[in-house]
Amino acid sequence: QRHLISAADLTRDDAVLILDTAEEMARVADRPIKKLPTLRGRTVVNLFFEDSTRTRISFEAAEKRLSADVINFSAKGSSVSKGESLKDTAQTLEAMGVDAVVIRHGASGAPYRLATSGWIDAAVINAGDGTHQHPTQALLDAFTMRRRLVGRDTGLGQDLAGKRITIVGDVLHSRVARSNVDLLHTLGAEVTLVAPPTLLPVGASAWPCEISYDLDAVLPKSDAVMMLRVQRERMNAAFFPTEREYSRRYGLDGDRMARMPEDAIVMHPGPMVRGMEITAEVADSGRCTAIEQVANGVSIRMAVLYLLLGGNEPAVTQSRTTDS
Ligand code: CP
Repeated sequence: QRHLISAADLTRDDAVLILDTAEEMARVADRPIKKLPTLRGRTVVNLFFEDSTRTRISFEAAEKRLSADVINFSAKGSSVSKGESLKDTAQTLEAMGVDAVVIRHGASGAPYRLATSGWIDAAVINAGDGTHQHPTQALLDAFTMRRRLVGRDTGLGQDLAGKRITIVGDVLHSRVARSNVDLLHTLGAEVTLVAPPTLLPVGASAWPCEISYDLDAVLPKSDAVMMLRVQRERMNAAFFPTEREYSRRYGLDGDRMARMPEDAIVMHPGPMVRGMEITAEVADSGRCTAIEQVANGVSIRMAVLYLLLGGNEPAVTQSRTTDS
């Protein structure tokens, strides 16, 4: 059984294959009939123990476009609130016969546990676990960067070698930052983290990236600047940075954006806290790819599901079948 637990598990060739397959899936999304028969008769469960808008909805859209039977499970309103364990929940799903589980969980390591426990015989896809990993977010971010910085057609088969990516903000609590550092390094990009010292994890100095505390100095040397949300829900209230102090040092406003190279892009995984890490002026500008990232997330999740579950048929052949 194959799983997607961490961006760190992907080789360069794995990652480029997923990005190239996502380009094929994006062509399906551009058609009047957006469906492929690839996962007909297969059942995918979206198992969400933590809140989500983008990831949950885009996985569901991806599964439906691949014709899977979709079961949505949210911990709120389930027997988890009565104390049911992950093991019992997994065994309940196993009894119903599922082929893949997309799991978001507040505990780092929960998807790995599910994949290796033997509780369930299904492909496990990590949709974000604690502060650990969010591999499909890193893949959709890399897809967005490759399209914008290399080119939609010229990017096929390519990685992000030499691209300078700056990730700014609450790295300490960010599974998005960890996944991106891992994947971008694998794809040959040069990554710089910019964060207040209190929001950098102990050990980040050993990660395959540079660290800076001076956003203004790094911006002119960035091809993409990825802003992170300050995750107050994972912080002790005593350690909240004030909005004014944080945005003064680490927020992206119009003046700062003007320091970036002309073609450089601004990214945000969402949800955004406008006024804290990014101003409305920047978020709504043509240089911000936040909405594009969401659209690209459907293509990436279709590609991951197709490659994990879809068998050996090439996607393009199957899409032609649907067209005829
Ligand atoms: N980027 C992201 O994971 O957003 P959601 O929490 O809304 O899924």
